[in-house]
Amino acid sequence: MTIGVPKEIKNNESRVGMTPGGVFELTKKGHTVNVQSKAGEGSGFFDKNYEKVGAVILNTLEDIYTASEMIVKVKEPIEREYPLIREGQIVFTYFHFASSEPLTKAMIASKSICIAYETVEDEEGTLPLLTPMSEVAGRMAIQQGAKYLEKPVKGRGVLLGGVPGVAPGKVLVLGAGVVGIQAAKMAAGLGAHVTILDINMKRLRYVNDVMPPHVVTEFSNEFNIRKHIKTHDLIIGGVLLKGAKAPNLITRDMLKDMRPGTVIVDVAVDQGGCVETTKPTTHEDPIYIIDDIVHYSVANMPGAVPYTSTMALTNVTLPYVLKLANLGWEKATESDDALRKGVNIIRGEVVYDEIIETFGWN
Ligand SMILES: NC(=O)c1ccc[n+]([C@@H]2O[C@H](COP(=O)([O-])OP(=O)(O)OC[C@H]3O[C@@H](n4cnc5c(N)ncnc54)[C@H](O)[C@@H]3O)[C@@H](O)[C@H]2O)c1
Repeated sequence: MTIGVPKEIKNNESRVGMTPGGVFELTKKGHTVNVQSKAGEGSGFFDKNYEKVGAVILNTLEDIYTASEMIVKVKEPIEREYPLIREGQIVFTYFHFASSEPLTKAMIASKSICIAYETVEDEEGTLPLLTPMSEVAGRMAIQQGAKYLEKPVKGRGVLLGGVPGVAPGKVLVLGAGVVGIQAAKMAAGLGAHVTILDINMKRLRYVNDVMPPHVVTEFSNEFNIRKHIKTHDLIIGGVLLKGAKAPNLITRDMLKDMRPGTVIVDVAVDQGGCVETTKPTTHEDPIYIIDDIVHYSVANMPGAVPYTSTMALTNVTLPYVLKLANLGWEKATESDDALRKGVNIIRGEVVYDEIIETFGWN
């Protein structure tokens, strides 16, 4: 098969859909891999690195789409790419169709085969191609939170780890899922006191088993949240209700109970956020302040660390890319239940029920 790796053109996106390691594996199996010139630069992979393992470097986005049977990328196609996608072409990437009707309509019109990273789902119901990005965002949340707790950027002026003779900072983590556990682990590593809340007792038992004693679990309810926001310096939002908007666990009126300079990092912003005052921000302008509370709510946190994120993403996508290339999409999805769940649109027909429901097309 001929596989194309375009350079991402979405604003501030420096990740790339395939590393030279991936090209190496595909060319070894006799596939051709076209990589757009400079596609990997933002993640530290240069044209010469790709060429060395057998990639064909093509200059333009148009060249890549024209010459390739399967496109492997990171973000959803954007308008300039719509007319380049053609009938029967496989596009394997994050799509998040439910959040964009124009994109969905454009992909229906293209008659391509759209396989979405975010809906590949294993037998335990987890989303293996989303997990690494939650891991990155969870770990980053503490790094960002620690930075914005500094006084010159309007934070409380607290050093999370404390120093001998001074108590460490306190971190409240809402949700003990992938984001929450990674955040708790980073905060604990810095020496902060961590309280982690969830409604899932299984998750809390797990956290309690594996974390050090300065990570404390509590059941998530309004009473406990109201109690803890008064004393914690940094609050991480990592709550997810699958397929639904995140619940507003912290409402606007609760901000006045927090100490000025408290920092909220609402990682769940991409699902609407678990704080009423959350609105999406960008890496150029990541924070805003309401009632003296610093809000950080960047919707694509992993984009700021493309070296790590590209590796983390491609580690999990490559086995599926190989399967699609070796078997073709029909046989590959027949033989792999997880990958089959990733198929969203086939030659103009939407086959993923939640998209149909979202747009009321049933
Ligand atoms: N901003 C970004 O760049 C970025 C990156 C990756 C993930 N995310 C988002 O982060 C969020 C969390 O992702 P995840 O992979 O950790 O999800 P997850 O499913 O692993 O974890 C979510 C947790 O929230 C818990 N929860 C549900 N209701 C709760 C409540 N009322 N109180 C406390 N906990 C509750 C669930 O029991 C679960 O343990 C998602 O919205 C995801 O899309 C954002």
